[in-house]
Amino acid sequence: MSAKLSQFIEYRDIGMIDLDNIYDLESQSYDFPWTRNILKDCIMNKYDSYVAIYNNIIVGYIISKVTSYESHVLNLTVNEKYRNNGIGSELLEMVIHKCKILQSDTLLLETRLTNKSAMSLYEKYGFRKIGLRKDYYKTLLGKEDAIVYRKLLS
Ligand SMILES: CC(C)(COP(=O)(O)OP(=O)(O)OC[C@H]1O[C@@H](n2cnc3c(N)ncnc32)[C@H](O)[C@@H]1OP(=O)(O)O)[C@@H](O)C(=O)NCCC(=O)NCCS
Repeated sequence: MSAKLSQFIEYRDIGMIDLDNIYDLESQSYDFPWTRNILKDCIMNKYDSYVAIYNNIIVGYIISKVTSYESHVLNLTVNEKYRNNGIGSELLEMVIHKCKILQSDTLLLETRLTNKSAMSLYEKYGFRKIGLRKDYYKTLLGKEDAIVYRKLLS
């Protein structure tokens, strides 16, 4: 992470106050973004979720469900302008840390087969491919497979 940017980024738990900003970032980042209601439900139901803030602006977020057995990362998004600065890594580490606190033994997630930056990030953190979900995601041209990744924590 560039020393300059990293020292000004703060991380904290997500809150309802973040909903509009997260929804904006979600909408900018995906062709098929989560709806505002889905994001709202995740916050209301106290999913394990964190935001990265730079200059009072949310530049990234992670939404996950951590339990004492199996946990899931459901959404990880960094503002395009701030990518490759370690923000995605930091957010993922916060979830891994929470998994360790709750003694979760497995962390699962899915990503698009074409999402090379996400695949590289997850593999760097010790996630291994354990499956493929055929036609799992919509694309502008049709459907795309998902790779299922698992990280063993125990
Ligand atoms: C995937 C994403 C979250 C990564 O966030 P980020 O803050 O840029 O990631 P980091 O800076 O922490 O990078 C960590 C690692 O990710 C990988 N990575 C990140 N960007 C990459 C790129 N453009 N190409 C290849 N690998 C990349 C590298 O392994 C990198 O490690 P390195 O810096 O040692 O090479 C971000 O690109 C993003 O929000 N993409 C759009 C939304 C998305 O696809 N989310 C994931 C859905 S499953």
